Amino acid sequence: MGEVRALMIGDVVGEAGINALETALRPLAAERGASFVVVNGENAAAGFGLTAETLARILAAGADVVTSGNHVWEKREVWPTLESEKRVLRPANYPAGVPGRGSGLYEKDGTLWGVVNAQGRQGLTPIDCPFRAAASLAEELRGQGAITLVDFHAETTREKEAFGFHLDGLAGAVAGTHTHVRTADARLLPKGTAYISDLGMSGVVDGIIGMDAKICLERCRTSIPLRMECAVGKASLNGALIVFDAESRAAVSIEGFTVPVELT
Ligand SMILES: [Fe+2]
Ligand SMILES: [Fe+2]
Repeated sequence: MGEVRALMIGDVVGEAGINALETALRPLAAERGASFVVVNGENAAAGFGLTAETLARILAAGADVVTSGNHVWEKREVWPTLESEKRVLRPANYPAGVPGRGSGLYEKDGTLWGVVNAQGRQGLTPIDCPFRAAASLAEELRGQGAITLVDFHAETTREKEAFGFHLDGLAGAVAGTHTHVRTADARLLPKGTAYISDLGMSGVVDGIIGMDAKICLERCRTSIPLRMECAVGKASLNGALIVFDAESRAAVSIEGFTVPVELT
């Protein structure tokens, strides 16, 4: 039968990252035949967090769902939006009572999509167990007939691969975010879940993870916590295209991509 395709894009870094989406996301989705788009927006607001305005711009640029990560709390003004807007997610494994939600079920062009956001604990704040939280949400969404895309926001490839194997056969796809550097390991896991350790970012190429290289380098060299700023210059969109069988909902293929974007 037919197939359905999803695009997942890594962390959007600042104005250049949003501009890159506004310029290139819709043409890219059309060219690759993707009907559903998930974008991680945790660094959209000048590199740190998300605001209601930057979230609205990412949605307007063509994202169906915006996921996030550890930086999502930085702009307190967005907290009420995390509650009211179903299309934005924060990691599901934060303690009970924290604003927002960590998963959702969305209908688009006749296909049911589940999206789960979780956050790792290696090199990040040790919050609740992401393995347990994500597996139970993925199971629930599978029961509702959805193809489930999981954004695992984590630092280490070891924790990410373990997470991928934990959800193998339960989720349609597990894609890592947070490092801003796309990995070259996109593949189908043994039980059929599409997997990539990190999607990369939407942001400036000639920077350090999308931030100003000079400041970042000085910060690393001196160990002084200098205030980081977003880099300026040529940008690219990084992510993965995942193809699913429309009937069985099984992943057919996953391919990482880097698309250079001419910002006008
Ligand atoms: Fe990030
Ligand atoms: Fe992060």
